[in-house]
Amino acid sequence: MFDAPMLSGDRFRLGTFSSNCSSGMTVTKAPERWVNSWENNLKLAQMLDEAGIDFMLPIARWIGYGGETDFHGGVLETMTWAAGLLASTKNLTVFATIHTAANHPVVVAKQIATIDQIGNGRAGLNIVAGWNKPEYEALGLSLPDDHETRYAYAQEWFDLVSKLWESKENFDWDGNYFKAKGVKGDPWPVRGGVPIINAAGSPQGRVFATDNANFLFTPAIDLERSKVEIAELKEQARAKGRDVNVLTFSHVVCRPTEAEAQEAVEYFVNQNQDTDAVENLVRLQFAHAHSFPHDLLAQIKHLMAQGHGGFPLIGTPEQVAEGIIKLHETGFAGSTLSFFDYVDEFPYFRDNVLPLLKEAGIR
Ligand SMILES: Cc1cc2nc3c(=O)[nH]c(=O)nc-3n(C[C@H](O)[C@H](O)[C@H](O)COP(=O)(O)O)c2cc1C
Repeated sequence: MFDAPMLSGDRFRLGTFSSNCSSGMTVTKAPERWVNSWENNLKLAQMLDEAGIDFMLPIARWIGYGGETDFHGGVLETMTWAAGLLASTKNLTVFATIHTAANHPVVVAKQIATIDQIGNGRAGLNIVAGWNKPEYEALGLSLPDDHETRYAYAQEWFDLVSKLWESKENFDWDGNYFKAKGVKGDPWPVRGGVPIINAAGSPQGRVFATDNANFLFTPAIDLERSKVEIAELKEQARAKGRDVNVLTFSHVVCRPTEAEAQEAVEYFVNQNQDTDAVENLVRLQFAHAHSFPHDLLAQIKHLMAQGHGGFPLIGTPEQVAEGIIKLHETGFAGSTLSFFDYVDEFPYFRDNVLPLLKEAGIR
């Protein structure tokens, strides 16, 4: 097994999520919503890097969710986004998020190896096996209805990527989904491999994740359920001789007083919600994915609007730190953070919440 900054140490990992997407994680019409420009992403990455944050994770999206704002209609493409950020930072791990069906594995193996050289061993790969049918139709691809086929395809895709990273020789590949003749990985990742994330929710997807990923990403809606879920996933991986950690995603609204934090939620999420886009987001999750527990989905519309279903960290620095400590106690190995405006709000989090996490011994 190779070593990488994301894989070593036992601190609670912190990253950001979705800064490459229009509106970030909040389905809001507020004019102050996140602008996913390159300039903003670069500014954010350099601040995170200096503050010792572990990673940045992008969302790969090809069409938006409609509504007045066409939520996630604008998305910086993740491989090229990661390349630019790796060239401009020193310590941060930067993931690319890749749809297996839309990206040929030989091309991806070489792209990841290339950006890993740009970042001197700091690239990561988030594998998406597909779920969002209209998006596949937008690319002229058909999403298999059954999860077995989706994940069988993803498995062969990743087997070919892995072989390209392991083999120093040219080889042929004669699989069910891919044929390749005389291929070789050159260039290879700096450390022989890169950290792998997968965010499957279905039983088939979780077999894939525990077989292949270093981190499984899952929503934290009910922490009592999460405790059981994490223990089961880690056990499932352990039974295969693998060590898999579980990450989640959180949405931060941190202000000097709780009232100010609630006011910001009131403005961005209640008064200015893009309700049509929220409806579409929830409907598509129900129709094609198992990422959120279906019996809770109707209750979490508000969370979907606020932070795409992320765990709410809302209040004073003490309250936000308490929430993160709770996630740690639940068994999560880390969490991404999102903000209404990442660049504006991260410095307050850095200066007031990070010291409390350090004091608590989890950073
Ligand atoms: C934290 C998180 C991040 C994800 N990132 C993406 C993404 O960037 N693009 C995408 O199409 N799907 C993304 N997904 C969807 C998952 O990769 C997966 O396809 C979905 O949860 C359906 O799981 P299932 O195939 O097991 O039903 C994400 C899901 C979660 C929970």
